Amino acid sequence: VDVDPSAYEHGLVDGRPRMYTEMLEQPASVERALRGRLDERFATAHLGGLEMDARELRAVRRVKILGCGSAYYVGQMGASLIEELARIPADAEAASEFRYRSPVIEPDTLYVAVSQSGETIDTLLAVEEIRRKGGRVIGLVNVVGSAIARACDGGIYLHAGPEIAVASTKALTTMNACFALLALQLGRVRDLSVADGRRLVAGLQNLPAQIEQVLEGEERIAQAAEALATAESLFFVGRVRGYPVAREGAQKFKEISYRHAEAYQMSELKHGPLALISPEVPTVAIVPDDELTDRNVAALHEIAARGGPLVVVTHPGVDLGELRAERIDVPRNERELDPLLLTVPLQLLAYHAALTLGHDVDKPRNLAKSVTVE
Ligand code: G6P
Repeated sequence: VDVDPSAYEHGLVDGRPRMYTEMLEQPASVERALRGRLDERFATAHLGGLEMDARELRAVRRVKILGCGSAYYVGQMGASLIEELARIPADAEAASEFRYRSPVIEPDTLYVAVSQSGETIDTLLAVEEIRRKGGRVIGLVNVVGSAIARACDGGIYLHAGPEIAVASTKALTTMNACFALLALQLGRVRDLSVADGRRLVAGLQNLPAQIEQVLEGEERIAQAAEALATAESLFFVGRVRGYPVAREGAQKFKEISYRHAEAYQMSELKHGPLALISPEVPTVAIVPDDELTDRNVAALHEIAARGGPLVVVTHPGVDLGELRAERIDVPRNERELDPLLLTVPLQLLAYHAALTLGHDVDKPRNLAKSVTVE
């Protein structure tokens, strides 16, 4: 897995864009990220690269996650995992903003820098700022030996394999899996029960096959994408766990389809954006089967009542009632791990919208794979 990405050329693989082959590699990437790191006997994860013993892990009082672009959105998913499993307050922030607000660095906060390339300058400068002020930073990085990996106190390599397409797919999915491992280990040295630990270990082990299942639904997702591609502007909405998923979905869509896509919290729709809903403005809604499903479905009815077309990414068995919507079902895992799986169809959605519009999905205009200068 320690392959130099520059050894890989841009261009089509078997007539398919890189992004496509990288999406298909996701089950294998996640499997590699989990390999040797799950401990069924003690229902936990072992991340040796953290270079922190159980006493140091127990001393963590806060977690602050920093990344840019898609890495920032996965950081938000990671923050939820850590709060839910380890009950440590956690949040994510755009690394590009962090150093400009003279951040307070606390000794009992664990800082986490997330980056596929390990070379994003904004993330690197955030790491350097934290270390200068005496904070401890771990990296979730794909490229071994990269600048961010070297600048951190310890970390977790993603082992996603080289990623070439600008729109990140397999790196994001493995970032998410690595956050789950971190949350599990942090949880198990604190109050997470053996039963919950076992539940999560089994959930993680199910991920590769479930990602495969989502990828098998490509044809249906491609149909939904064709309809969305004609819209000038669209919303991606989700609530709590679903909101970072919506943000990442909108990001991917605008990056490669060049359509205006805006993510919103489902709960905030009625406080403004509902004014924009019309038959010309479709909404992609993230509706997992959880304690918020009923509220989410009620919000979807508000959208439908205004003629807004809907694509709903949900779980089998979720009752959408009379709602007229394109439905994309994703296999159910443990609730904490659902965001990882819900993200995968949104990659295919953006990909097929971009293909419909005739764009070069691997090299979107104005964007670089990693931004290494300020
Ligand atoms: C660039 C890319 C994004 C990516 C971000 C962070 O802006 O266009 O797709 O998410 O960098 O990259 P990193 O390598 O740090 O994960």
